[in-house]
Amino acid sequence: MKLFDTHAHLLDEAFDPDRDAVIASLPGQGVAHVMECCCDEAGIDRVIELVERVPFFYGSAGVHPHSADEWSQDTAAHITRALQHERMLAVGEIGLDYHYDFSPRDVQKRVLDEQLSLANELNRPVILHDREAHGDMMDLLRAHKNGLKGIMHCFSGSYELAKECIDLGLYVAFGGALTFKNAVRPIDVARRLPLDRLLIETDCPYMTPVPFRGQRNDPGRIHLTLEKMAFVRGEEIELLADALYRNALNVYEIAEL
Ligand code: NI
Repeated sequence: MKLFDTHAHLLDEAFDPDRDAVIASLPGQGVAHVMECCCDEAGIDRVIELVERVPFFYGSAGVHPHSADEWSQDTAAHITRALQHERMLAVGEIGLDYHYDFSPRDVQKRVLDEQLSLANELNRPVILHDREAHGDMMDLLRAHKNGLKGIMHCFSGSYELAKECIDLGLYVAFGGALTFKNAVRPIDVARRLPLDRLLIETDCPYMTPVPFRGQRNDPGRIHLTLEKMAFVRGEEIELLADALYRNALNVYEIAEL
């Protein structure tokens, strides 16, 4: 059984004490690949350095809504250059976060709009973050629907919203929140969506699955989300794992023999 963590942040400072040991432990836990998601422009070159050092990692380049006000005219060129690297695959993570509002909303929208255009120009998938911003997010995605592809990460919306994301060309990813006791809506959505559009992720060091809530998360815990998804969908764990692994290769456009 091979697992693909489609969204992780091993470069987060939470891993400073033991990053290499955590990474070295992953293949033994069935984690075949990890997508390291970039959060800000300063992180782009760090992600490249990480994927060059760890052959089973892939990387993204992009500016998270928290850092949207750092966007400059040079940032798009920096992302474009980064994605020339053969294991730098996606524009992300990008989006809107109206929970924290660390950058003004009009700036968040403009920077997301620019990065959706850039991904389209480069013909790359996007990794989308949407927190309490469903309305504006969907308006922007509809405006960019031609050629749109990628992932709605850590999905928290309704089934109808998930269906519209899929109709717009996206995959829908679930993380540790699927294991939480109060996860009524994510469970309902994960149960009803078509198998060929589902993904799993950790978003580590955040979103730690039950029974480790409160501790640091890492890609070695992704099997807990897999097991919960298999339970709610009534599917065999191994068959589901194979399908999710194939979906991850498909969305990131990785040709694997
Ligand atoms: Ni993230």
